[in-house]
Amino acid sequence: MAFLPLRSLNPSSATSVLEAWLERLGDSLADSAVDRALVCRKTLCEIVYPEYASSWETATEDDKLPTATRLALLALDPRNITLEPEYYAECDDARFQRVKPLLWLWYSFDRTALGGQNVDAGVRFRRLLAPLIFKRCGSNFKAFQHVEFSFGYNLEVGDDVVIHRHVLLDDRGGILLGNKVSVSDYANIYSHTHSIVDQREVTNVQTVIEDGVRITYHATVLAGVHAGTQGMIGAMAVATKNVRPYHVNVGIPAKSITVKPNAPTPSDILSTTSQKVRREQ
Ligand SMILES: CC(C)(COP(=O)(O)OP(=O)(O)OC[C@H]1O[C@@H](n2cnc3c(N)ncnc32)[C@H](O)[C@@H]1OP(=O)(O)O)[C@@H](O)C(=O)NCCC(=O)NCCS
Repeated sequence: MAFLPLRSLNPSSATSVLEAWLERLGDSLADSAVDRALVCRKTLCEIVYPEYASSWETATEDDKLPTATRLALLALDPRNITLEPEYYAECDDARFQRVKPLLWLWYSFDRTALGGQNVDAGVRFRRLLAPLIFKRCGSNFKAFQHVEFSFGYNLEVGDDVVIHRHVLLDDRGGILLGNKVSVSDYANIYSHTHSIVDQREVTNVQTVIEDGVRITYHATVLAGVHAGTQGMIGAMAVATKNVRPYHVNVGIPAKSITVKPNAPTPSDILSTTSQKVRREQ
């Protein structure tokens, strides 16, 4: 394998404008008394319908505008849309309504020309929002586009965590991501499951991904799984049971095929087994 660390790119002429915009947004959100729904609406309106940024209210009532345009304008305000977790019976409204405007801002930004594939702007923007949404967010958090959450407020994230594009972090029962965890494109981490008889019966259980774990492309981690330090879950795997530290688990259901060559002694590897939630594979 070739050693190919990421390159550093030079800032473009848009960088200073981006920094000024993020500073202004950060300042507004730093005020705990601010109406986050209004910040979300104003920010999105300036990006997608700048011609209505100063006349949003009158435009939404203007029956000369196409109905779809009025509806699209209304949808910039998070109070006019619903997100799936709001339908969950255990949704803590006081906590969710506080983070909902920021989730809506995050998801909507990702669907604009400014957000989308724009790596530098996207990473900086999401790094600004993440600590205001998650239960805890460490330093240097990096998320690419189209990452989704359930509640957001049940997610704990360590330092230097990277979440790649199109990842679902279902924190309904809680997710703990340790330091230096990497979650690759299209992976899913769940923390809730349903009865096979009655889907209204739901089990919420925390899923724990310890330091240095890599969850690779298109893998799925089921609720309650505990992936031990430096473990790895291979492409397309479905982790139904715990992953031992330094083990590489692949397949459906995911099973260990090897131990990383940098693993400490076998006794060290097995020393965390007391933390087991499910039987290990
Ligand atoms: C986890 C992974 C790195 C394992 O690679 P590896 O240690 O080189 O494993 P090998 O290629 O030697 O394969 C060992 C065996 O497991 C099988 N295997 C490997 N990856 C598999 C996978 N994702 N699913 C099912 N089986 C897999 C191989 O077919 C082989 O089986 P065999 O012994 O019957 O021939 C690889 O599966 C993977 O998922 N790569 C994803 C890309 C990646 O590197 N991501 C990193 C973070 S972005």
